Amino acid sequence: MVILITGISSGFGLAMARQLSADGHTVYGTVRREVEQLPGVHYLRADVRDTASVQAAVEAVLQAEGRIDVLINNAGMGIGGPVEFAPEDDVKLQMDTNFMGQVRFTQAVLPAMRKQGSGRILCFSSIGGVMGLPFQGFYSASKFAVEGFCEALQIEVRRHGIQVILIEPGDFSTGFTAARIKQLSDEAAAAYPLLRQSVSSFEKDEQTGLKPEYLAKKIAKIVRCKHPKFRYVIATFIQKLSIPVKRILPARTFVKVLSLFYSVK
Ligand SMILES: NC(=O)c1ccc[n+]([C@@H]2O[C@H](COP(=O)([O-])OP(=O)(O)OC[C@H]3O[C@@H](n4cnc5c(N)ncnc54)[C@H](OP(=O)(O)O)[C@@H]3O)[C@@H](O)[C@H]2O)c1
Repeated sequence: MVILITGISSGFGLAMARQLSADGHTVYGTVRREVEQLPGVHYLRADVRDTASVQAAVEAVLQAEGRIDVLINNAGMGIGGPVEFAPEDDVKLQMDTNFMGQVRFTQAVLPAMRKQGSGRILCFSSIGGVMGLPFQGFYSASKFAVEGFCEALQIEVRRHGIQVILIEPGDFSTGFTAARIKQLSDEAAAAYPLLRQSVSSFEKDEQTGLKPEYLAKKIAKIVRCKHPKFRYVIATFIQKLSIPVKRILPARTFVKVLSLFYSVK
């Protein structure tokens, strides 16, 4: 299969490129800086915030292979801190990267997939795309946007033989934590006394979380699966449990549980 993955310089993207290429697929991956290249993987330059670079990357794959069987919308980043203190530019960066980035790549591959009458688009959401996480409000918002977009898209493209799949990871140890843009100023910490404790607690959970290779193996299975589901939660048992718990518990009780978990009680 011809697979295009966005953001393969680190974390999930790197692990998926390695796994899917080892499985014998033809793998193309995008980067926006010089990186050490994996043998057998085709590297393309693209910034998901730059429509022209997105179009050029998709064109390059179509020129070389004549098709794209799977798009993996993986590239993303996070901003952290209280909603009240988030600079507008950071909020725009968050939405432009995590939401519009996936929109740009999806729109760019759809014409070819429609012509093929087949294709699979995997979109990276998060458990934070199913519940609003404190001090990651805009990250959650960007992933909620991905969820809504995918729910609609799957219905629109079904008749063209295209499947849309949401991936919802829990905490993983990748480059994501170090790349997070945080607002932890003294002013913000004075207004929200539990801010620093909460951020350092969830960042510790990320850094001690599952390894990206675990997710890459699951993605390889999803790519191979004849009849994939629409949603896959890839996380520890406890983190997976949080999703049905949110559905079952009264909203007020769930907020209390989440507050305890995120040390914002
Ligand atoms: N790690 C977790 O716990 C976790 C949990 C749930 C969901 N996720 C999601 O998983 C996806 C991958 O994250 P990760 O954990 O693997 O983090 P990561 O190690 O930081 O990798 C993120 C990748 O996205 C790329 N990227 C960021 N902004 C970009 C842009 N504007 N244009 C093109 N590429 C860009 C990065 O490239 P550069 O190296 O150039 O920055 C990097 O290759 C993200 O969508 C994230 O939201 C992660």
